[in-house]
Amino acid sequence: EVFEDAAHASKLVAHEIADLIKQKQGMGEQCVLGLATGSSPIKVYEELVNMHKEGLLSFRNVVTFNLDEYYPMQPENRQSYYHFMHQHLFDHVDINPENINIPDGEVPVEELHQYCIDYEMKIKHCGGLDLQLLGIGRTGHIGFNEPGSHYNSGTRIITLDHITRVDAASDFNGIENVPKKAITMGISTIMKAKRIIMLAWGHKKSDIIKETIEGEITSEVPATYLQRHKNTVVILDNEAASEL
Ligand code: GLP
Repeated sequence: EVFEDAAHASKLVAHEIADLIKQKQGMGEQCVLGLATGSSPIKVYEELVNMHKEGLLSFRNVVTFNLDEYYPMQPENRQSYYHFMHQHLFDHVDINPENINIPDGEVPVEELHQYCIDYEMKIKHCGGLDLQLLGIGRTGHIGFNEPGSHYNSGTRIITLDHITRVDAASDFNGIENVPKKAITMGISTIMKAKRIIMLAWGHKKSDIIKETIEGEITSEVPATYLQRHKNTVVILDNEAASEL
């Protein structure tokens, strides 16, 4: 779906998420959201916070799982996704802190393997993701599933692509400070979500969006796996859609 501008599109996405939360509330159920970081979802979070402040939306029944976190990374570091999520959403809504799940960038190396298995199991035990929000990296990554990621991959530690580290360099004051690894949900984790909403804005995403939507399904562009998902929408502004 192509929109004139990101602000308008983000409002519609926020409304879809809010409607799902309320619908689940009405049924006395938890709403399990998979959340993304990066600049793309910021306006969606802004809108959700506004709805909460206006008394129109509660997060009491919401459980969240974030896609990824740099590794190693301390939560209090301002580049952490932990910090990002609290700054843009969690600090401003009534979510129960126990319902927030973000991969822990401080897990000791020897515990990583088990930690990732447990993260995956926790999502499963919550009944799976009702809705997964996604951005897309210039490499075609979703979460931090870089080119080469297998369709069956689960939550794991991954080595970041050089392009991804270049793109993150300005946030870290130089590429040498960008972590080389990250913990990410896998492709299979994401593909099990009942609904997926991918967001992309601006010219710099237009080439990778064309590959994602019109290209062959390939592990070299992990976002192309989404073509196999039954309930995915890609939300674009005119610029991101310009190569389609
Ligand atoms: C990072 C995140 C991704 C995100 C991507 C795009 O790599 N791990 O989840 O989709 O950035 O970021 P932006 O939305 O800022 O373009």
